[in-house]
Amino acid sequence: MNMYIKSLMGAAATMMAIGGGATATMAKEFRLGLITPPPHIWTKAAEAFGAELSEKSDGAHEVTVFPARQLGNEAEMLQQLQTGALDMAFMTVAEVSNRAPDLGAFYAPYLAEDIAHAGRILRTDTARGLLDDLPGKVGVVGVGYGMAGLRQIVSRDPVATAEDLQGKKLRITPFDPILDFYNALGAAPTPMPLPAVYDALANGQVDAIDMDAELIWKLKYYEHADTVVQSNHMMFPMVGLVSAKVWKGMSDDDRAMVADLMAKHVDSSIDSYVEKDEAWLKQVEETGTNYIVVGADFFGDAISEWNATWSEKSSALDDLRAAAEETK
Ligand code: BEZ
Repeated sequence: MNMYIKSLMGAAATMMAIGGGATATMAKEFRLGLITPPPHIWTKAAEAFGAELSEKSDGAHEVTVFPARQLGNEAEMLQQLQTGALDMAFMTVAEVSNRAPDLGAFYAPYLAEDIAHAGRILRTDTARGLLDDLPGKVGVVGVGYGMAGLRQIVSRDPVATAEDLQGKKLRITPFDPILDFYNALGAAPTPMPLPAVYDALANGQVDAIDMDAELIWKLKYYEHADTVVQSNHMMFPMVGLVSAKVWKGMSDDDRAMVADLMAKHVDSSIDSYVEKDEAWLKQVEETGTNYIVVGADFFGDAISEWNATWSEKSSALDDLRAAAEETK
């Protein structure tokens, strides 16, 4: 039995316990929200999950996918999941970590040595165990992880050293670990949800952005920049979520089917990024844009400062580091 299937079985047992007693199976049209645009890997995975759930339930269950923030930003969708107004979401762990700070451990700078290592970390029992607290703390059931690529920096002005980012308005995904990182670096981190980023970079509302390779390439952010910094400084996990309220109303069979299929499809995004992340970066580099490749040294003391802050904020940091070490 492979590790993925084994950990899924463990997760299914935990999640059955969360749900309490079984209720009768009922046909259901689930609503699933995400912020990514229709062609994005996460959105495609959500659609594939819906199609397979419909097939495996002989049409009893359908999933309507709402991409591109149609149901609101992630903070709003998380609230809707808590009240049961929304059934499901594929969401950045970043947003969930605003309510469950232990998950902030995933953003330890250079926790993953490359994209494949990031995938292996997300498939460990330690990572999976961090989902156990979500029903109690956040009111959602986390069925499994996906991811986007490692984080890079795109800057309108030339960048040769971290000095060049001092005081610069640098767009970040709105969550604390990345805010602390860029504050430690001396930049001026500017929280901004994904859909607002293109215009903000193009019109100079921000000087730089923190972003992944896929979107730097596909949305052509580099066309509005002088320098792309390939830093690979953080991983960027995603999590498949079901409203705990909705979960309680599902039968054991339905919980097992939803958990199994949703975990399978969010997990498939890990394979997609492992396969493609480096190729996207290469394509960006080959456009002839200024392109520098840096490592942990580039960020100087910001990394040790982040580690000191987050060893207080997340009790999971040591365990996740151990899991990262074991999966090197
Ligand atoms: C971002 O905030 O940069 C982001 C969010 C979701 C998917 C990819 C990137």
